[in-house]
Amino acid sequence: MLDLGAAPGSWTQFSAGRVGPHGLVVAVDLSPINSRPENAVVYTGDFYDPDVLQSIASHGPYNVVLSDAAPATTGNRSLDTTRSAAIAEYALYLCDTLLCEGGHLVVKIFQGGEEQALLKELRRLFQTGRLFKPKACRAESFETYLIGLGYKKEASHSHEKHD
Ligand SMILES: C[S@@+](CC[C@H](N)C(=O)[O-])C[C@H]1O[C@@H](n2cnc3c(N)ncnc32)[C@H](O)[C@@H]1O
Repeated sequence: MLDLGAAPGSWTQFSAGRVGPHGLVVAVDLSPINSRPENAVVYTGDFYDPDVLQSIASHGPYNVVLSDAAPATTGNRSLDTTRSAAIAEYALYLCDTLLCEGGHLVVKIFQGGEEQALLKELRRLFQTGRLFKPKACRAESFETYLIGLGYKKEASHSHEKHD
């Protein structure tokens, strides 16, 4: 599993338990990741940095890509949702090289921006795509998650036809 935007490391810890001793979790964040399970490899860096990407790609391809990554919020809702959507779109783009055929993706996105457009793209690239807001999210929180199950690599190489 690949865990993008992993600090301080709760998802890494949980994922390491799920993949078991023979599985591997690769986690990356700008900030130090405190959780260091034995079956996890942790990188401190920017996932837009080509060197960091190369390091995480060296462990792939992955069965699951998670992104709980979020921009540093400014309080400007429009700016924050735009930046969040850019990260979510990037995570979707990374699937082409980092996610296995049939693999799964979970990506956080701030509501009120591009989530419907990205959901449409997710449904083109995965057998199933949906939005999911966990009960654990605070009521006032505007974050939600895009979930794609069953990656179709072929679809990522063809472009959507426009009428
Ligand atoms: C909500 S936190 C993640 C919490 C984490 N899932 C956990 O369980 O502890 C979002 C993280 O995304 C990270 N992030 C945002 N942009 C990033 C980037 N370009 N490269 C790496 N990490 C990034 C932030 O540093 C922040 O730690």
